[in-house]
Amino acid sequence: MQQSMVIRWCLLFLVAFQSMEVNQAARILAPFFFPGKSHLIMTNAIVRELVKRGHEVTFITAFSLAKENLGPNYKEVLIPQYDFWPRIKEKSKKTTVLEMADLSSLTFIALCQDMGLHSTDFAFQQPEVQALIQAKNKLGKYDLLLAEEFYNEGALILGHLYQIPIVTISTFGYTNYLSNMFGFVAPWSFVTHMYLPYTDRLSFSERIHNTYLCTMEVFLRRFYYLPAQDAILRKHFSHLLDEVPTVKQLNNNVSAILINNFMPLDAPRPTSFNMIPVGGLHIVPPKPLPKHLQDFLDGATHGAIYFSLGSQVRSAEFPPEKIQILLEVFGSLKQRVLWKFEADKLDHLPDNVMIQNWLPQADILAHPNVKVFIAHGGQFGIQEAVYYGVPLLGIPIYADQHGNIHKSVAKGYALGLSYDAISTDTLNGSLSELLYNPKYQTNAKRASRIYRDRPLGAMDTAMYWIDYVIEHRGAPHIISASLSLSWYQLYLLDVLAVALVIILIPLLGLYFLCTKSSRRTPTKVKRN
Ligand SMILES: *[C@@H]1O[C@H](CO)[C@@H](O)[C@H](O)[C@H]1NC(C)=O
Ligand SMILES: *[C@@H]1O[C@H](CO)[C@@H](O)[C@H](O)[C@H]1NC(C)=O
Repeated sequence: MQQSMVIRWCLLFLVAFQSMEVNQAARILAPFFFPGKSHLIMTNAIVRELVKRGHEVTFITAFSLAKENLGPNYKEVLIPQYDFWPRIKEKSKKTTVLEMADLSSLTFIALCQDMGLHSTDFAFQQPEVQALIQAKNKLGKYDLLLAEEFYNEGALILGHLYQIPIVTISTFGYTNYLSNMFGFVAPWSFVTHMYLPYTDRLSFSERIHNTYLCTMEVFLRRFYYLPAQDAILRKHFSHLLDEVPTVKQLNNNVSAILINNFMPLDAPRPTSFNMIPVGGLHIVPPKPLPKHLQDFLDGATHGAIYFSLGSQVRSAEFPPEKIQILLEVFGSLKQRVLWKFEADKLDHLPDNVMIQNWLPQADILAHPNVKVFIAHGGQFGIQEAVYYGVPLLGIPIYADQHGNIHKSVAKGYALGLSYDAISTDTLNGSLSELLYNPKYQTNAKRASRIYRDRPLGAMDTAMYWIDYVIEHRGAPHIISASLSLSWYQLYLLDVLAVALVIILIPLLGLYFLCTKSSRRTPTKVKRN
């Protein structure tokens, strides 16, 4: 009797376990059209983890993961790499990324939109993507569309074609138009545009600037960018579909978005159940460093400085006089310097400086001897610095880098130095301040504790919500009803109109009564 009970329980458990497995393994279509290398840090980490957890992922990408041998659950659709730099250089009249430091934020928004339109159009032209579009029997083939939310919204049409729910990823964190897309009003009085070097505490003139840029972006999106995305969709799909959905309609169907940010890197702002902060999900426990790097950092008894300007900005493109300044300052320090330098050789390299054209950044920042990180202020570098509590010297060049550095300076774990202002004095002065004033370390460690303090790890959170959307078939209950409102309803302008009428009617009545009676008085006088 007892034995059969045990067997029954075991069987029940097995069945439950198996059905759990079956429920969890989903087929995910993941078109990632934007060929930005830094974006891959997040998107590839998510794809790898999904595959590791038993999902089948069809990854449309320009950067192959084939050599990682992710196993049979990983299916790759390799598309050619859209090279956006020639167009950007032509449109901005700049020849190197470094020169872009003086482009206005508005120009940069327009450049991103242009780049997004062309990379979307380019991706739809590829036979590999066409094969997915033309495929027969699309229904039931996939369970979820996972795409990036970075000026490639056209890709969401695959969710429409395959009739599957959509989860998107914002590799660049929160941005103004994301709020609108998810149905929220982000007040420009304290929610700053990500390209502006402001925090959430804005002065009056900063609020004017912020309102100006956000308004311009709203108009650019409404009257240029979104119609242009729609035109691309019509170009590629009007022969296939009776009614080609607009990008806005596609966006309104997005179930959830995974956002590359977390406290304290960004400030509180209006958000929703389906806007999920997962910043730092790419950070994994540090791996052992290659021996020469380990020895170099272990031997840095006075501490070490790590210098890298990310994947797009090349310090090897610095003009000779700037290189000279860097060599002079670095050479005069007691600290050792590890420099990501994209050429093989650099003359007159001081003994305490090591250059290499690629460096395992997060693992280096995890080394206790690293005291300062000289960075350009991209999202991922800042997240890694904060995670490991390393103070920053920020040399921002473009886009959100100015804002990221400004926020870090305001939080007390960074100093900023504009590229044009780099001189022996400014560079050495900033480095000395960061190295010898303990407040930067203290603030960096505090930020690190806040950043790590979460109910669920970043990657687990991302996986939870992807599974959630699949499990609840698009989870329509987490999509805001405000998306079905028109703009005057959302801003209550119709209610305001009624309120005005209610207030105005008695006032007008009163006014007419008064004028009537005052007109009557003089007539009386005349008669007399
Ligand atoms: C929105 O999602 C529903 C349910 O999955 C689907 O039937 C509809 O076609 C989608 N709309 C668009 C514009 O993709
Ligand atoms: C930089 O500052 C350090 C002190 O922090 C000093 O020893 C060094 O000589 C300075 N280097 C230059 C090039 O001024």
